[in-house]
Amino acid sequence: MSTLITDIGSLVTNDPAHGSGPLGLLTDAAVIVDGGVIAWVGRAVDAPAADDRHDAAGRALLPGFVDSHSHLVFAGDRTAEFNARMSGQAYTAGGIRTTVAATRAATDEQLDANLARFVGEALRQGTTTIECKSGYGLTVEDEARALRIAAAHTPETTYLGAHVVAPEYADDPAGYVALVTGEMLDACAPHARWVDVFCENGAFDGDQARAILTAGVKRGLTPRVHANQLSYGPGVQLAVELGAASADHCTHLTDEDVAALAGSETVATLLPGAEFSTRAPYPDARRLIDVGATVALSTDCNPGSSFTSSMAFCVAVAVREMGMTPDEAVHAATAGGARALRRTDVGWIAPGARADLLLLDAPSHVHLAYRPGVPLTAAVWRAGVREV
Ligand code: NIG
Ligand code: FE
Repeated sequence: MSTLITDIGSLVTNDPAHGSGPLGLLTDAAVIVDGGVIAWVGRAVDAPAADDRHDAAGRALLPGFVDSHSHLVFAGDRTAEFNARMSGQAYTAGGIRTTVAATRAATDEQLDANLARFVGEALRQGTTTIECKSGYGLTVEDEARALRIAAAHTPETTYLGAHVVAPEYADDPAGYVALVTGEMLDACAPHARWVDVFCENGAFDGDQARAILTAGVKRGLTPRVHANQLSYGPGVQLAVELGAASADHCTHLTDEDVAALAGSETVATLLPGAEFSTRAPYPDARRLIDVGATVALSTDCNPGSSFTSSMAFCVAVAVREMGMTPDEAVHAATAGGARALRRTDVGWIAPGARADLLLLDAPSHVHLAYRPGVPLTAAVWRAGVREV
């Protein structure tokens, strides 16, 4: 069963071969979806026949958002912590332990229902691929169950046993690193694609992070790193050295860090929701783009530092506060996220790509930044199935 989506006022393909600029923009366009993939892309007047037809009525169509960084297996609430922060208190890595306690106390069913709710919330806003980390369990059993639960919702699962040192190991961080690189890794690796570490003051230092990522690589996981979020540090350089798929946050970067990212395959994933919600300075996307680094935008959705599932919000903030053009921000939220997850089947609209599509209630993708905070989702298809 094929579907023709036609009368697309503006189509973001992210395929320069198909249209103008890096977004591969086409106007008065059409797309044919068949068997869950894109079968044809071109000008509406040239479109071949299909079994079914959807009239986009001049609106903008873009690839579904690829949210390459979230922490959604959790229970509990940190409204009070957010409230205190907005009254002047600083954000620290230690708040994670509040969610750890609530998550450990929750049943599998509660965690699964929470995760389903947030994945659905994201989908209704156009996110068709989402990565999800563990990291609020911090015991062998709780980390493994977090990843088992996440894997039922997305193939992009990340082992983050090294989120912070578990409370039981407060006086023995080396013992916790041994657990994370040993028994916990053994239990988690079968359910994970990626390994991550929070390399930060109050979490794990460069040597610990290297040991954790290296152990994950030996078990077949690919690294990604929470790097340089709250302070300058070794995270970005380590990510590049180990060939990590992405260095996430990148808020405090030296010139050497920027140069290392520019000369690498490691994507700089920027998470403006975190700076928004911790009242911190935003990362400088312009500085990264101008030297040729690949940039992704993602929500970092989590109950502590960034409780938004809205990629549109991240696009708007990135444009207003981080020196990105609307085109760059939309590219980073789609193709950039796909690069950060090393996926070639999503993040673009071209023959053979998965039919993950976001139809905006707007004539152009620029409206994502131009109309901040306005729900602009008109329709969403995931693998060719109309979801919204
Ligand atoms: O990406 N940086 C580490 N992890 C999360 C924070 C999680 C939390 O505060 O619960 C982040 O910001
Ligand atoms: Fe994070």
